[in-house]
Amino acid sequence: MIDISPDLTVTAPAKVNLHLAVKDRRNDGFHTLESLFIAVNFGDTLNFRLTKDKNTVKICMEGLKLTVKKKDNIIFKAINLFREKTGFDTGLIVNAEKRVPAGGGLGGGSSDAAATLLALNKIAGFPLTKESLLETGAVLGSDVPFFLHQSPAAWVTGRGECIKPLKAPQMYLALVNPGFPSDTARAFHLLDKYREQRAEYKEQKTGQEIFDCLCSSASWFDGNLFSKFFNDFLDVFDESEKKTYDKIISDLYELGAVYANLSGAGSTCFGVFKEREAVQKAADVLRECWGVVVDCRVQSTKIKEP
Ligand code: C5P
Repeated sequence: MIDISPDLTVTAPAKVNLHLAVKDRRNDGFHTLESLFIAVNFGDTLNFRLTKDKNTVKICMEGLKLTVKKKDNIIFKAINLFREKTGFDTGLIVNAEKRVPAGGGLGGGSSDAAATLLALNKIAGFPLTKESLLETGAVLGSDVPFFLHQSPAAWVTGRGECIKPLKAPQMYLALVNPGFPSDTARAFHLLDKYREQRAEYKEQKTGQEIFDCLCSSASWFDGNLFSKFFNDFLDVFDESEKKTYDKIISDLYELGAVYANLSGAGSTCFGVFKEREAVQKAADVLRECWGVVVDCRVQSTKIKEP
């Protein structure tokens, strides 16, 4: 294959759910969510090169070892969907430097899919409008629309497709992955079972209150905003998994986190810190016990256009 263009490199940031409420199960099997998403300055890097061969795709995955087949690779699925929608048929070589652990609740695959759609739309001369990019992204995964918005923070509802961008204050995060993945569909299934078995279960209706505070607070660190956050998945896992998450979360608090919880449907936990020095110190200690520990910060501005 012959290279016919300068290449395009894009970043695919990870996300953290600072708050995640799972509401009712809908008729289509998906659940309605209310969640505060933030994008962080840690993620994968994707490089796209064009070749003269029509409709070919070569994907090289580097970094973290992934055992995904090409046809199941979300980057491949995003490319095929983009080709279907636009007729774009130029051959592609994609190099993906994977850093975000798969099944980690950090949106690694969804962010790769969003970055792929944004990159191809640029390469092809913007054939898709923002609306049709969002529609296309939602087909690939519930978290993809958040990443397509390229906003540092957003209040996310519906299945994941209703996005209200928010300004994020500066904050530092320690991400701690216990070394095992969590399957999202299984976690939602465990949550349904957990609720079915508890007649006394009552949904917490604090979403509007949290959203209003997010919009009106000058700093999310003022008042008691963080005390309103929770993650509905935290209680639903079996004892050993739950014990691991509880241990990481209590370690994070002991090391000075203002707030700590599980991200998404697991398996990564996070701690929020006000100061960079504090997060770096905490991460150094946590690295002695846990497989993957990352210190990062919230994206402070709109994520760079590809
Ligand atoms: O859309 P995504 O691929 O992330 O979804 C994976 C699985 O998680 C879905 O098949 C569904 O079982 C569950 N899910 C859900 N409600 C959502 C998002 C995901 O039930 N809002």
